[in-house]
Amino acid sequence: MRKLASGHEVEEVSKEWLDNISKYHGPFYVPGMVRIKPDGYLYPAAAPIYLDKLYNFKFKPDDVLVVSFLKAGTTWTQEIIWTMLFNPNLDNPKADLPLLLRSPEFNIDMFMHGVSVEETPFQKMKEVFLQLCPGRKIEDGMFTQICEMIPGPRLLKSHFPLCLMNPDLLDTTKVVYVARNPKDLMVSLYFFMRKLKNYDFKGTFEELVHQFMDGDLIFSPYWPHLRDAWQRINHPNLHWIFYEDLKADTMKELRRLDHFLNTGLTSSQLLNVANHTSFSAMKSRGEPIADNVYNNKEDNETVFFRKGQVGDWKNHFSPELSEEVDRWVAKEAAAAGITFPSRSSTSTSSSPSPNADPPST
Ligand code: A3P
Repeated sequence: MRKLASGHEVEEVSKEWLDNISKYHGPFYVPGMVRIKPDGYLYPAAAPIYLDKLYNFKFKPDDVLVVSFLKAGTTWTQEIIWTMLFNPNLDNPKADLPLLLRSPEFNIDMFMHGVSVEETPFQKMKEVFLQLCPGRKIEDGMFTQICEMIPGPRLLKSHFPLCLMNPDLLDTTKVVYVARNPKDLMVSLYFFMRKLKNYDFKGTFEELVHQFMDGDLIFSPYWPHLRDAWQRINHPNLHWIFYEDLKADTMKELRRLDHFLNTGLTSSQLLNVANHTSFSAMKSRGEPIADNVYNNKEDNETVFFRKGQVGDWKNHFSPELSEEVDRWVAKEAAAAGITFPSRSSTSTSSSPSPNADPPST
């Protein structure tokens, strides 16, 4: 069996499994999928190439890396940190550039493997690549190389879990991990996967929930992703944010981040950051990815900034499905040793303890 630079084993999914799951999903599943063992993270077949590049990526002490599961509030957190680092007085003209340019990410290359950039929604990034990475080849991973070459301090993003990165990472670089209660996250994922052309999810909400729990959605499974970060929660270079806490008391979370990042912002600068990154402000600035990546997008609709609320799951789960997921959450959260903020309104509630001991497993 093939091994990654990190030592993890790569297993191809069976044709039977792929045929079945492909009934629900669009182009992202077509080139084949692999699972990364032992946790079974599910990625497109080209992922191992880019996971090895990520493992060998030279992070620097002034980098900040945002790590999360999909739909946990990653974009919000990136925009907050970028504004804290580079635009606390709201006078930086670069703030108008797309977030992808200001805070590039590691997870896109595996989806573009073997495809000409012109056929992707990221054609405009080609110019940026050619400027930043003279003499380099797009085929070697456009986004990973942009991550490498953008001037520091770099704000980078990964949906890959910490266990697939170099074990030295936290000794070099600050990492901000964002988590969100799984029921709201599933709702957010459902609407996003239905709308994004390349996911093109065709199933019902209940089917998505079961695929999520079974680890059959791209980037799954969810719990090991959280557990990998939670186990490192006492490391001084790891900062944990719950989406629910950020919603409930944004200023408190901004002060915590200010302390972690050593940005030394004044109260009025922190207020600038909060205002500039509020849901309505971000929504008014439009889609963070390209406009043309969605199915049936209405004029003036911003698909990505959907609701930005805590507890929207109540509008989408039947009582039976909710109970089933609550049982799953209670079991998995206990096994991973994670407690969610009570305000996340799942039945897993209890207070978060950012300085909790890591689980013994
Ligand atoms: P909803 O679909 O529930 O609205 P990610 O960036 O990890 O993909 O997460 C996307 C989710 O974060 C979406 O959730 C999106 O609306 C929400 N989000 C983005 N910016 C936000 C903000 N400024 N405030 C609150 N939620 C925000």
